[in-house]
Amino acid sequence: MMAQNTAQKTNGMRRYETEKKAIGKNVFICPPMPVTIVGTCLNNRPPNFLTVGWVTRANVNPPMIAIGINKSNASADGITMHKTFSVNFPGTDLIEETDYCGLVSGKYKDKSRLFDIFYGELKNAPMIQNCPITLECQLTETIDLPTNYLFIGEIKGAYANENCFTGGKPDVTEINPLLLSMPDNSYWQVGEFLGRACKIGRSLKA
Ligand SMILES: Cc1cc2nc3c(=O)[nH]c(=O)nc-3n(C[C@H](O)[C@H](O)[C@H](O)COP(=O)(O)O)c2cc1C
Repeated sequence: MMAQNTAQKTNGMRRYETEKKAIGKNVFICPPMPVTIVGTCLNNRPPNFLTVGWVTRANVNPPMIAIGINKSNASADGITMHKTFSVNFPGTDLIEETDYCGLVSGKYKDKSRLFDIFYGELKNAPMIQNCPITLECQLTETIDLPTNYLFIGEIKGAYANENCFTGGKPDVTEINPLLLSMPDNSYWQVGEFLGRACKIGRSLKA
């Protein structure tokens, strides 16, 4: 059933209390999320980078991150072979490079020339100097799904530009991460600050 458009605005924020309509199962509705560039080493090829939207922190201690990679991508072979990868968070200035890394395969093109590359502790996890935050990861588990691998990696090292921190904490306005929304496949930047997580909801506890 179609939702009636009676959403009301409260405190400038929309609340959705109306009926919902079924929208099928293959739901790609993602509000803007950070888009990343995952670095790998391929067999006898330059360091490779692919664009990845499907990325999430997966464990607190030890810190782990999960990425969903299509099996047909060259990077899937690189991660399986070397058991390492990097996750780089580009700023909005890298919008074109980020998109390009998602359009062409390292099987045919050398994407390594787009970036200044550095390494941390792990030999085969190339990281991008031009990104404000980078992580090097050791593969701990691969979940073999029908079309994708869900690679889970332990974060072995994290690197950031000093000016991306305020009061010792990452400052999202300084990092200015490139965001992605689906299924409209659009890039965005961070908007307005609305409130502190784990704090603003406390008023409803009373
Ligand atoms: C914005 C964007 C997000 C993407 N997200 C993913 C993703 O989460 N997982 C994935 O496997 N491919 C994703 N892709 C597609 C790969 O980046 C693309 O197939 C890439 O060319 C593969 O490169 P490779 O063959 O060198 O590994 C994305 C592409 C774009 C443009």
